[in-house]
Amino acid sequence: MATDQWHVLGAGAMGCLWAAALQRHQQTSTNPVLLLRNTAALARYPGMITIESPGSEIRQFNLPAKAVTALPDDMPAIQNLLIACKAQDTEPALDTLAPWLNESSRIVLLQNGIRVQQELTQRRAPGTVFCLSTSHGAWIRHPFHVVHAGIGKAWLGLLPSAAHDDTTQALAIMLKSLPFSEMNVRADLHMSQRLWLKFAINCAINPLTVVYNCQNGALLSNELAREHLQQLCIEISLLMNALPECPALPDIWEQVKQVAQATEHNYSSTLQDIRNHKTTEIEHLNGWLCELASRHQLACPLNQQLLQAVRDRQSRRI
Ligand code: PAF
Repeated sequence: MATDQWHVLGAGAMGCLWAAALQRHQQTSTNPVLLLRNTAALARYPGMITIESPGSEIRQFNLPAKAVTALPDDMPAIQNLLIACKAQDTEPALDTLAPWLNESSRIVLLQNGIRVQQELTQRRAPGTVFCLSTSHGAWIRHPFHVVHAGIGKAWLGLLPSAAHDDTTQALAIMLKSLPFSEMNVRADLHMSQRLWLKFAINCAINPLTVVYNCQNGALLSNELAREHLQQLCIEISLLMNALPECPALPDIWEQVKQVAQATEHNYSSTLQDIRNHKTTEIEHLNGWLCELASRHQLACPLNQQLLQAVRDRQSRRI
């Protein structure tokens, strides 16, 4: 059996992008398998993924796919699983996949937030849960047809886990298995800090783009939104400084301004979900931050208001 067989869970923009890159990376080995939500999703799969990169031709990748809900009992254990579904879908999907996961199955998480990453790192065997944080920009033109709009970078790391001290070696092995060159992946030995910072940035940008119904850059150019963003960054910084589990972070307002500027034409993932009538990851962003704040009796009025505003928009499905 090939040692580097990959399964990719989730066929959104990131799932398709990484599945195609894995296939190119593993030309001489086994094709990655796309894991789809159910048999209805499998029936809609055209048998290939299409990737469109500005300035280069459209490429198609024939990848096998299976429905998570209809995997054969005798399927061998999954060796490597890249999870690209939303944060809230991860644990239910992993429960369904449990019969095909063993102690040595390696999991790579691509989600926004930090809660799922922390929980799985604690729950699964030491050194088997990796986190990937990426600045690649991609969106779905049609199902299984992705536009790789922004060529970015990706950072791979593990969150600290008491029982595992061989992080560097585990990272080096995993890095070789991923399409490190094509997707600009590099190892990060301080993944906790990177994920907390990304979490803080998402808690600032994502809900406000829903409230102002705008691209990321307009949060800086619209005077009212900019003031709101700055106040929110102050609250998030105070919370992050007070949470004992959060590592020291650089200035949140400066970081948020840089990201909003660099992604000025992007619609945040949360606004895209609202516009596409999908459930957002807000419970894993401001929802989780408010939960942590309440555990430590810290006030977070702005985060609470924004959480409620996104929940309202989500429930109205307009
Ligand atoms: O969730 C998102 O959309 C992205 O993480 C970010 C950084 C806000 C850019 O759009």
